[in-house]
Amino acid sequence: MRKKLVAGNWKMHGSLAENAALLTALKPALAGIEAVVCVPFPYLAQAQVELAGSSIAWGAQNLSEQAKGAFTGEVSASMLLDFGCTYVIVGHSERRSLYGESDALVASKYMAAQAAGLTPILCVGESLAERESGVTQAVVARQLDAVIDAAGVGSLAQAVIAYEPVWAIGTGKTASPEQAQAVHAFIRSKIAALDAGVADQLVIQYGGSVKAANAAELMVQPDIDGGLIGGASLVADEFIAICRAAAK
Ligand code: 13P
Repeated sequence: MRKKLVAGNWKMHGSLAENAALLTALKPALAGIEAVVCVPFPYLAQAQVELAGSSIAWGAQNLSEQAKGAFTGEVSASMLLDFGCTYVIVGHSERRSLYGESDALVASKYMAAQAAGLTPILCVGESLAERESGVTQAVVARQLDAVIDAAGVGSLAQAVIAYEPVWAIGTGKTASPEQAQAVHAFIRSKIAALDAGVADQLVIQYGGSVKAANAAELMVQPDIDGGLIGGASLVADEFIAICRAAAK
């Protein structure tokens, strides 16, 4: 049986005081449940202190594709390791659309993460216009192929994929369980055609307006192995309920 894994993506939210309250609430409630929080860079040290010894892992939301050097404002994989990160999100749709990250750059970041021993959470997903014009599978395949061509299908044994339809992120519009399952099954079958063993074990998270109220019906789908949670990951009771729904 594949494991289920829920990750919170705090995006650019939080403060030392808010984070302390949130992490203090999550720790006992999620004892024994594997979960991840991806926090803004400045709060990694706080996450490291607060979450040490708990079942909650922590990570970042982005990293540089470069190892070190004159890259003002960038953060390397080895810096994330210094703060105990085990996961890092790569290719989030907000990075792709707002900061111009190309498929090739995302693949480079994915490889930089893995080279350092971090598990990349690789985000893929189509926009509303792409879904409406019937190219969802083509878009997701292109995003996956950029990584598979660069890093090899075997690299997915040390990665998590998050399917996040752009039209469902922060909009309150969740993909129906059937819509999400269909794309998850497509992703798994595409990878299975290259390596059945890797595909069978691969954790494919769903992201996009997941809440306590809709988590159970999503998590029960055969190819949905957890979630990547934005807004609801900032609300302790919501995130706890989602993690518990996935762990059932
Ligand atoms: P929301 O859960 O706020 O829709 O965000 C999803 C997301 O982008 C997680 O990475």
